[in-house]
Amino acid sequence: MGSMTLVAALFLCLFAGALVVQAEDPYLFFEWNVTYGTIAPLGVPQQAILINGEFPGPKINCSSNNNIVVNVFNNLDEPFLLTWAGIQQRKNSWQDGTPGTMCPIQPGTNYTYRFQIKDQIGSYFYYPTTAMHRASGGIGGIRVNSRLLIPVPFDEPADDYTVIMGDWYNKGHKALKKLVDSGRSIGRPDGIQINGKSGKVGDQGEPLFTMEPGKTYRYRFCNVGMKTSLNFKLQGHTMKLVELEGSHTVQNLYDSLDLHVGQCLSVLVTAKKEAKEYYFVASSRFTKKPMTSVAIISYTNGKGPASPELPAPPPENSQGIAWSLNQFRSFRWNLTASAARPNPQGSYHYGKINITRTIKIVNSRNNVNDKLRYAINGVSHVDPNTPLKLAEYFGVAEKVFKYDTIVDEPTAESEKMITLATNVVNATFRNFVEIIFENHEKTIQTWHLDGYSFFAVGIEPGKWNPDKRNNYNLLDAVSRHTIQVYPNSWAAIMTTLDNAGMWNLRSEMGERFYLGQQLYVSVLSPARSLRDEYNIPDNTPLCGIVKGMPLLHPYTI
Ligand SMILES: *[C@@H]1O[C@H](CO)[C@@H](O)[C@H](O)[C@H]1NC(C)=O
Ligand SMILES: *[C@@H]1O[C@H](CO)[C@@H](O)[C@H](O)[C@H]1NC(C)=O
Ligand SMILES: *[C@@H]1O[C@H](CO)[C@@H](O)[C@H](O)[C@H]1NC(C)=O
Ligand SMILES: *[C@@H]1O[C@H](CO)[C@@H](O)[C@H](O)[C@H]1NC(C)=O
Ligand SMILES: *[C@@H]1O[C@H](CO)[C@@H](O)[C@H](O)[C@H]1NC(C)=O
Ligand SMILES: *[C@@H]1O[C@H](CO)[C@@H](O)[C@H](O)[C@H]1NC(C)=O
Repeated sequence: MGSMTLVAALFLCLFAGALVVQAEDPYLFFEWNVTYGTIAPLGVPQQAILINGEFPGPKINCSSNNNIVVNVFNNLDEPFLLTWAGIQQRKNSWQDGTPGTMCPIQPGTNYTYRFQIKDQIGSYFYYPTTAMHRASGGIGGIRVNSRLLIPVPFDEPADDYTVIMGDWYNKGHKALKKLVDSGRSIGRPDGIQINGKSGKVGDQGEPLFTMEPGKTYRYRFCNVGMKTSLNFKLQGHTMKLVELEGSHTVQNLYDSLDLHVGQCLSVLVTAKKEAKEYYFVASSRFTKKPMTSVAIISYTNGKGPASPELPAPPPENSQGIAWSLNQFRSFRWNLTASAARPNPQGSYHYGKINITRTIKIVNSRNNVNDKLRYAINGVSHVDPNTPLKLAEYFGVAEKVFKYDTIVDEPTAESEKMITLATNVVNATFRNFVEIIFENHEKTIQTWHLDGYSFFAVGIEPGKWNPDKRNNYNLLDAVSRHTIQVYPNSWAAIMTTLDNAGMWNLRSEMGERFYLGQQLYVSVLSPARSLRDEYNIPDNTPLCGIVKGMPLLHPYTI
């Protein structure tokens, strides 16, 4: 069983055609068969999207500098794509797995992703970006270990456990797609799954994980749901936060942690309590109807069931938002950790760099022709048939989309009216940009940017203005790739646009993404040099108006 993982080192010639991968570093090969299959995450058997028969799908366990080769066979009845959110594909948006960068893998065909992992030691997950597939699976964990050369700021744990959890809909992706295509919302989820299962207090069953007394374990948690923020805890144990989306953090202790949609983090837990079973508890945050799911964590010499009394959940409503915000502020980058910096080019001293551009992003929802749509600065993104990156590459961009349909400073008007268009921002290579997310809605949001990690310098209630920069954390904000924005609040991030390519900025919430709350940032290197961007891979499928066009390989070193 399991994924067909072959590890081979130093294969110089095998992939000579693929300039994307660095030949001197080890390769990890994966062959993934994407199929429908029946599982019952909430106890109701239903059709889900499995990878090699599994949900969660196979884990990618790799180290920095590894070359990853994943041959994905699409045996669904619909086009399919996977994205590797947070894995910064340097110089390589060709295989980012979003519909604006690649043609989808057609049913009955396969496509081989090839990319190299950089020094971003931490926890990630992959998921589908096509249709509403993500609601039904095709999701799994990615674990990036340190190369031996780079020490990690804690002792090697006894084991390393991945928890893929999130809200779940029993309806399945096709029924959900019908709902959103007919202009309605997917509504509330049916429950919370934890590694493909759900449980309630009193259930008997196999433990999710076991711990030996006295030993310390690393747990990696990812919220892979469609829209629900989670709070999680392990009864009777504190959790030491060590890593957040690829950055080593100051190691604070927490009784419970909030994890918003699309986010991953890892904690250390030491088994130093009475040897018995304990509940791992995942609960919804900021929802009208609370949901909770539990799983059992057992000591190996464990005698006795978990106590049925669950620790009190954190507060809800405005008090709960303040609680969550304080927790966000307690997340700090460990500046003395000797691990490699996730951001190259010295942007470690990000507080000293002058901002060259400020882009304000305001999310909104409204009906367009009686159909629900979500927008950024008044524009609800529509994917054209030709991927944007390919249109740019073949020099036919003007036939496919217009740059800059939105402005950097949206007006109040743009929030009220939503127009449908392809949303591409023309950005300047190596600019140091500040992006402000202002959320005027009553629900929490999470945003993600492909291709980069960014400094999450501030979140506050109310509206943003330039004076708020005085409150930014310009010293030790965590470098990461997602940011939550609380209701009627703003969040600010900063990054250097040093990774040439076409990169998706999106709502991490599946329905909002599908209904247009996303855009692409086109970062073209003026030199069009292989130093800045890899050549288009030879196996790139072509579709839309570029179908059949010869690959140009225009870049010169
Ligand atoms: C993928 O799974 C399908 C359905 O189980 C099976 O028919 C097919 O042979 C598998 N393909 C590969 C490449 O493993
Ligand atoms: C994952 O990779 C690490 C580092 O190479 C290795 O020590 C560990 O055994 C691997 N774990 C699994 C489950 O393959
Ligand atoms: C599809 O899989 C075959 C067999 O493994 C492989 O030789 C081929 O390169 C793959 N095609 C693509 C487009 O990746
Ligand atoms: C930061 O990392 C160093 C190891 O490089 C470790 O010794 C130290 O305890 C960490 N600091 C905090 C506050 O977690
Ligand atoms: C940043 O801007 C300030 C004010 O315009 C200027 O004095 C300073 O030299 C700039 N710093 C850098 C590193 O460009
Ligand atoms: C994008 O912006 C650059 C300046 O950074 C400009 O030279 C270029 O013409 C713009 N491209 C388009 C298509 O607007």
